[in-house]
Amino acid sequence: MSEMKVDFANLQHQYQLYKDDIDARIEAVLNKSNYIMGTEVAELERELEKFTGAKYAITCSNGTDALILALMAMDIQSGDEVITTPFTFISTAESIACLKAKPVFVDIDPKTYNINPALIEAAITEKTKAIMPVSLYGQPADMDEINAIAQKHNLKVIIDGAQSFGATYKGQSEVHHGDFYTTSFFPAKPLGCYGDGGAVFTNNDEYAEKLKMLRVHGQNKRYHHKYIGIGGRLDTIQAAVLLAKLPRYADEVAARQNGAAIYDEQLANSNSASGFVLPYIKEDRTSVYAQYTLRVQGREQLQAQLKEVGVPTAVHYPMPLHLQECFAYLGLREGCFPESEKAAGEVMSLPMNAFLDAEQVNYVASQV
Ligand SMILES: Cc1ncc(COP(=O)(O)O)c(C=O)c1O
Repeated sequence: MSEMKVDFANLQHQYQLYKDDIDARIEAVLNKSNYIMGTEVAELERELEKFTGAKYAITCSNGTDALILALMAMDIQSGDEVITTPFTFISTAESIACLKAKPVFVDIDPKTYNINPALIEAAITEKTKAIMPVSLYGQPADMDEINAIAQKHNLKVIIDGAQSFGATYKGQSEVHHGDFYTTSFFPAKPLGCYGDGGAVFTNNDEYAEKLKMLRVHGQNKRYHHKYIGIGGRLDTIQAAVLLAKLPRYADEVAARQNGAAIYDEQLANSNSASGFVLPYIKEDRTSVYAQYTLRVQGREQLQAQLKEVGVPTAVHYPMPLHLQECFAYLGLREGCFPESEKAAGEVMSLPMNAFLDAEQVNYVASQV
């Protein structure tokens, strides 16, 4: 097979395909100059509600603020504890720490890389207020087990779905399996805008009303502030981009899943003795493959070799959160969460997007 150059996220290709609609949507905003909370924002929220079946979709500035808004809506205070995974992007635990609450880490299931529900109860104290699972790489966590623990201990559940918008758990959107589901529209996410963006989903009337105020400085009436909030709105132009992309999103998810199936087949069939481990998706849920992530031995060398033949790779994530400098105050050390630490040393993501053709996927697999 001759050498080809494979794009990791293919954002330029996607823009060229959808250009007419995206440009028209953006131009409409420019012509109206309704840059803050223009009609497109509400229109997008109704479309996101239809897409997920959520009672409320509340858009916001990014996926990190979505988590902060959800924590603020449930009144997380200084000293409260929130249980989460250390094998995730920084935002998950950062959002908890931003509110002066304590992230309490629980190790992962080494097969799915998601929080291991069997370890959660041992981490619960009288200060625990919530559990924050992450749907890593686009696959929902073990929500039934997590919700059973939450119910038993009277805890709230916030799903960090920054990587999983469009995934299903037992045939339904994840928004129906937690008190809050949050997502990110960062450009490289499965559904991305052209800057920063995010959303919080809930089926709870009171939370929805509070979230809408919190994202506009806690305001219930112009210049009247019921709560301490944040400046957390989604820009109208970003809403316009998402409105152009959302109608194609189900097809894009199918294309990502198709690409992953080809990777699975090609890599499983290869006679390689390199001993890599393929993604493991549980039968009762779907992944949107925000990343297609393998476990490999000799990762750095393999990455360098792949780079030479035009195949970009990435590591999500090389250092678990309990070992990050910013969390040194938690007093955790190497050895505390062995599965997360092992995964951080072995995982490697291959190019994944909705526009990889079979030839490209086969090429990448053959090079791996
Ligand atoms: C698991 C996870 N949580 C939260 C975020 C934060 O999203 P954003 O970058 O939109 O703030 C991201 C993505 O960057 C993420 O991958």
